[in-house]
Amino acid sequence: MLGLKLPTDPRWVNIVEKNIEEILTDHAFCEQKATSTAISLIVSFPEYTDLVQEMTALVKEEISHFKMVHDKIIERGWTLGRDRRDDYVIQLVKFFPKGGSRTTQLVHRLLYAALIEARSCERFRLLSEELEDKELAEFYKNLMASEANHYTMFLGFARKYGNRKEVDAKWQQLLEYEAELMRNLGKTETIHG
Ligand SMILES: [Fe+2]
Ligand SMILES: [Fe+2]
Repeated sequence: MLGLKLPTDPRWVNIVEKNIEEILTDHAFCEQKATSTAISLIVSFPEYTDLVQEMTALVKEEISHFKMVHDKIIERGWTLGRDRRDDYVIQLVKFFPKGGSRTTQLVHRLLYAALIEARSCERFRLLSEELEDKELAEFYKNLMASEANHYTMFLGFARKYGNRKEVDAKWQQLLEYEAELMRNLGKTETIHG
């Protein structure tokens, strides 16, 4: 599914289920970071007109996801906590060497974004299938589809702006690297942990 090389161990859902407040907090900030990433791409690459158009739409969609998660937190009588460190993303973005041409840097950022969307989508699918909390399972089922669209959109832009063959090779390398990272994850109640 989604090209990912290593599926998440379903036992991760058991960990999540014990601490719904924690996963919702982490998830809310994932949506906030997705919003920030879209804004940052607009600021860094304003001359890519179709990217700017799509990122503008994405900002709205991701901040609406943030609100949906925030609403869930309120419904359950909680208050949004502080942002959590996302070690998965911190490790992931070390893969490609820094620098290179503008196009190279753009391609790298698009590939990171595609992968984070793909892994989030996989995690949401697992939550939608395995959570005993049926209301929350339904919530994740609805979100899953939009994250899958984001994954294909980012990958599509990388292929459009970069050299198709090079981009596909880089994507495969990044997928391998991500699978290695995932071997040590799936043990905490965070979206990527
Ligand atoms: Fe989202
Ligand atoms: Fe997304």
